[in-house]
Amino acid sequence: MKIKNITVIHGPNLNLLGQREPEHYGSNTLDDINDALTNQAKILNLNIEAFQSNNEAEIIDKIQSLTSDFIIINPAAYTHSSVAIRDGLSAMKIPFIEVHISNVFSREDFRKQSFFSDIAVGVISGLGAEGYCAALNYIAKLNK
Ligand code: DQA
Repeated sequence: MKIKNITVIHGPNLNLLGQREPEHYGSNTLDDINDALTNQAKILNLNIEAFQSNNEAEIIDKIQSLTSDFIIINPAAYTHSSVAIRDGLSAMKIPFIEVHISNVFSREDFRKQSFFSDIAVGVISGLGAEGYCAALNYIAKLNK
């Protein structure tokens, strides 16, 4: 099956990118990241939809509504706490890549625990905003 439609899900506090702890998250805003993904998707002949929420239930509702072929998700702080979002992804059976802007393994111990990594296709952590486009490029190659 050809992959065509990709949903990017940004978790809590990622709406503050650009002003939030630039030493961890760099200077790109969420709009910068979504614009870069949209441009890259055009080149790769893929469709991108981006969604951000600070609310666990909204993220679960979004996941349950999806008909897309692939998900790129940065669950942000929910990475380390949300069985509910994990279960939503498992239930929908849509493959996903977990992305973190910072290198979660070089930070506090609680960030090394993820409820998503073992059921993800792969995990990208520490490549900054570039991590999202790296995920998209990987997904495009699955069509070749
Ligand atoms: C993050 C890392 C998480 O530990 C943190 O709670 C975030 C962002 C990242 O992109 O590096 O909000 O997912």
